[in-house]
Amino acid sequence: MAMSQDELKALVAKAALEHVPEGAVVGVGTGSTVNMFIDALATIRSKVAGAVSSSVKSTERLLGHGIAVLEANAVARIPVYIDGADEIDHGGNMIKGGGGALTREKIVADLADRFVCIADASKLVKTLGKFPLPVEVIPMARAQIMRRLKDLGGDPQPRHNYVTDNGNQILDVRGLSITDPLAMETAINQWPGVVEVGIFAVNRASVCLLGTPDGVRRLDF
Ligand code: A5P
Repeated sequence: MAMSQDELKALVAKAALEHVPEGAVVGVGTGSTVNMFIDALATIRSKVAGAVSSSVKSTERLLGHGIAVLEANAVARIPVYIDGADEIDHGGNMIKGGGGALTREKIVADLADRFVCIADASKLVKTLGKFPLPVEVIPMARAQIMRRLKDLGGDPQPRHNYVTDNGNQILDVRGLSITDPLAMETAINQWPGVVEVGIFAVNRASVCLLGTPDGVRRLDF
């Protein structure tokens, strides 16, 4: 029988445990796939020193399992960051932030030597951009940033009734075809008032564990 999307997520969440070195502080992302990873991590709780979390939601889940959560400021480097993605291309570049946690996710990813992306096979795309690109903005700059995103050919919409963990707004941008993720990430992040764009090219995945009907497919980048 075909596996459901949730079963595929559970499969890769469990497979990610092999990428957690013993005694390590683990970077933990946000989302439904990561929730399953946190539950799997709880089974080896005594073998990890703790976690650096990318969202209030993940922190609550980690603490609920009795896993220590460290401040990002308390660690210099971590060996691995484990997170999902909304889209990932064949170069390991990703769109993230569907769950709104993109800024903290990028901060923790930037602390890590390796980014292990866990995703079901539906997330693998040829070109990023079908999934609306999230951009976290300082509210005062919203209109100016929306004009600039339109100049790039996008259709930005403020995320309704949503405030990030950092107290900012999210714009979801439809209609972009992101053929050069690194260039677009770098360009948008230069605009005053942009806190972070949800393109992860500088901090792209090192490896992706993709849940497929035939099992876990590993992509190295
Ligand atoms: C959270 O802000 C996102 O970047 C998530 O990593 C992404 O939305 C993946 O979530 P799922 O695992 O729920 O698909």
